[in-house]
Amino acid sequence: MKATVISIFTQKGGVGKTVSTINISGVLAEMGFKTLVLDVDAQANASFVGYAVDEDIEYSIAEFINSNEDPVYHQRGKDGNVYVVSGNEELETPKSRDSLKKAIKKVENDFDYILIDCPPQVIKDKEISFGEIAVFASDFIICPVDYDEFSLDGLTKLIISINKLKATKGLKAEFLGFFFSKVEEQTVDFKEAYKTLSESKIKDLLFLNYIRKNKFIRTSLREGESAVFLKPHNPVSMDYRKLTGEILSKVKNNGK
Ligand SMILES: Nc1ncnc2c1ncn2[C@@H]1O[C@H](COP(=O)(O)OP(=O)(O)OP(=O)(O)O)[C@@H](O)[C@H]1O
Ligand SMILES: [Mg+2]
Repeated sequence: MKATVISIFTQKGGVGKTVSTINISGVLAEMGFKTLVLDVDAQANASFVGYAVDEDIEYSIAEFINSNEDPVYHQRGKDGNVYVVSGNEELETPKSRDSLKKAIKKVENDFDYILIDCPPQVIKDKEISFGEIAVFASDFIICPVDYDEFSLDGLTKLIISINKLKATKGLKAEFLGFFFSKVEEQTVDFKEAYKTLSESKIKDLLFLNYIRKNKFIRTSLREGESAVFLKPHNPVSMDYRKLTGEILSKVKNNGK
């Protein structure tokens, strides 16, 4: 069966896309799902930091997209169920917005889930970005949200730009929703942002589960594995498990 492809996407930087890609893949692995992680960010944090792939390796996302070589995966997570294709600092923007989609087609029957860690890039009308090739390769898009500078306006604009891609460029991916990451539950800022979003016109797009801020995330990044795998009972691991459960049930409700 064809894998379900999910992009972890935002136009904003530093909101938890990479940490979420690593930990959601960690949860999928412990559930027994064979999961491919594609790092399409030239910063390559998901692969070189989060999953500690050796930076000298010769096969990266550039070869995954541009060559017909057999893919070289780096196995991580429970039972080695996470397969990582590393990022590439030299990666040039592909000319076609379907380039990643075509590359994924070759391996989509080998996996249950494919997660794409996107760079923070604004979708523009004239240039193709990696964020764009990722969403064009995806069935679904999920989006971590920062409540520090929370703006309903910013989220609404993101939905508008995704809808515009659907209307004008034939984007097929469904926008599954937003989740708060790096949360300090007791802060007024978080409570207000959560309330504002859950009472807004886009409330159906808010994931009820959120990810609490936890020091162990830093340790896990240093150790090159998901927090979920290293410390299954850590609060942040529990949060990612609940969030992943919610993502999978939304995916199912959307016909997958
Ligand atoms: N739950 C968490 N608890 C504590 N720190 C976190 C948590 N999630 C993310 N961080 C920290 O926040 C920072 C940004 O996270 P991350 O790299 O995942 O964001 P990003 O959206 O991928 O950034 P970029 O846009 O640059 O790719 C990192 O330093 C990470 O350690
Ligand atoms: Mg990142």
